[in-house]
Amino acid sequence: MAKTKEIFVCEQCGNESLQWQGLCPSCGAAGTLKRMSISRTPRGGAERRPLAAGSERPRRLAEVSEANDPRIATGMHELDRVLGGGLVLGSVTLLGGDPGIGKSTVLLQAGDALSRATPTLYVTGEESLQQVSLRARRLEVVSETLQLLAETNVETILGHAQQSGARVLVIDSIQTMFVNDVDSSPGSASQVREAAAALVRFAKSSGVSVLIIGHVTKEGVIAGPRILEHMVDTVLYFESDAGSRFRLVRAVKNRFGAANEVGVFAMTEQGLREVKNPSAIFLSQHPQPVAGSAVMVAREGSRPMLIEVQSLTDEAQGMNPRRVAVGLEANRLALLLAVLHRHGGVSTAGRDVFLNVVGGVRISETAADLPAVLASVSSVRDRPLAPRLVCFGELGLAGEVRPVPYGEERLREAAKHGFERAIVPEANKPRREIEGLEVIGVERLDEALRNAF
Ligand code: TYD
Ligand code: MG
Repeated sequence: MAKTKEIFVCEQCGNESLQWQGLCPSCGAAGTLKRMSISRTPRGGAERRPLAAGSERPRRLAEVSEANDPRIATGMHELDRVLGGGLVLGSVTLLGGDPGIGKSTVLLQAGDALSRATPTLYVTGEESLQQVSLRARRLEVVSETLQLLAETNVETILGHAQQSGARVLVIDSIQTMFVNDVDSSPGSASQVREAAAALVRFAKSSGVSVLIIGHVTKEGVIAGPRILEHMVDTVLYFESDAGSRFRLVRAVKNRFGAANEVGVFAMTEQGLREVKNPSAIFLSQHPQPVAGSAVMVAREGSRPMLIEVQSLTDEAQGMNPRRVAVGLEANRLALLLAVLHRHGGVSTAGRDVFLNVVGGVRISETAADLPAVLASVSSVRDRPLAPRLVCFGELGLAGEVRPVPYGEERLREAAKHGFERAIVPEANKPRREIEGLEVIGVERLDEALRNAF
């Protein structure tokens, strides 16, 4: 027998308390605790519990056959790659990103392609059907097969999904959805959580793939409790630089594929277009070599990409010189400048240092250390690096240049794009020569500096 019980859930972090308190005991936010009733089944003692009809018995691991996850292609190659080779049946995917970045656009385009392969229902809680149809016309999506529904009640949506026999369900967006049992407003932590939980249960019991759109707050997390990320199978984030046309879709979690995989898109008048050769777009075209620019081969997800790292150093305006990094971690920049001073003999004291990764890409790997330092030295000396030069490598606190994974693959990508010289960690130097590319292996920062100019 189910009993209902009252708990207090923090709207900000989702923490549950048994009593109302002014401050959340978990995150410390003020006035965020909201009353919620939940049903709890009383704990039975040692008595036999009835098994639900049709429930599965436990199996030995060896008995379980390795079924291949059946996948459906979304019709967008870049999106399929980020998903790990298409959309897995019965999976729940969360697509997060800033408002206006293109989440509805990409899922309308994907929904159109999916609907040709399998029944697909696109539910919008943000726009009217007319608005969606207007957008579809702009995208030149004139799908005969895609089903649309403007609705925000999750129970009603699931009813329609079942009746229409949909195999793919798109929810735009989770912040507009509500379930009947929770009496706070849509977008609150408890509604987001319960609505998502209902969608996950539906996906798992019916085998329908659910794609959920979630807006990201200024702090960069999907509004609502973080547990949303734990509930779903795959979490994709849309990233972009303000004002940039390019969009990166990154898998930060994927139960069915590699995490950190990225897909690259460009926003055009006709929606999002895939960028098949991302290396070409993240390099600015300088007719003459310029100071403060270094080209690196980054590896984002499963492929190498040529990316330009720029640095500008200038006389500091205040007492404390500024260290600003866009696309790289700011703390890392401070650390690299200290290593540069101590082991490379180049001082940036009294200078502001601004570092920027071109194209709005965010690089999280340490392979960007050497390019960041070389670009900064180039700016300090106001001398461009040697032309057609690429570099990558991690810098240690002792001034050593450490190897990074997939060295040879990165070098091949550089050679493919016409680069002629590469400064890389000695241990990343390939045994076989790469045609057209002179590879200089270095073990220490000062060696790298000597070879770069
Ligand atoms: P949208 O998908 O509505 O963003 P989200 O759902 O993430 O909030 O994208 C809206 C933006 O994209 C809007 O600023 C206009 C732009 N856009 C284009 O440039 N081209 C297009 O074809 C479409 C549909 C939108
Ligand atoms: Mg939208």
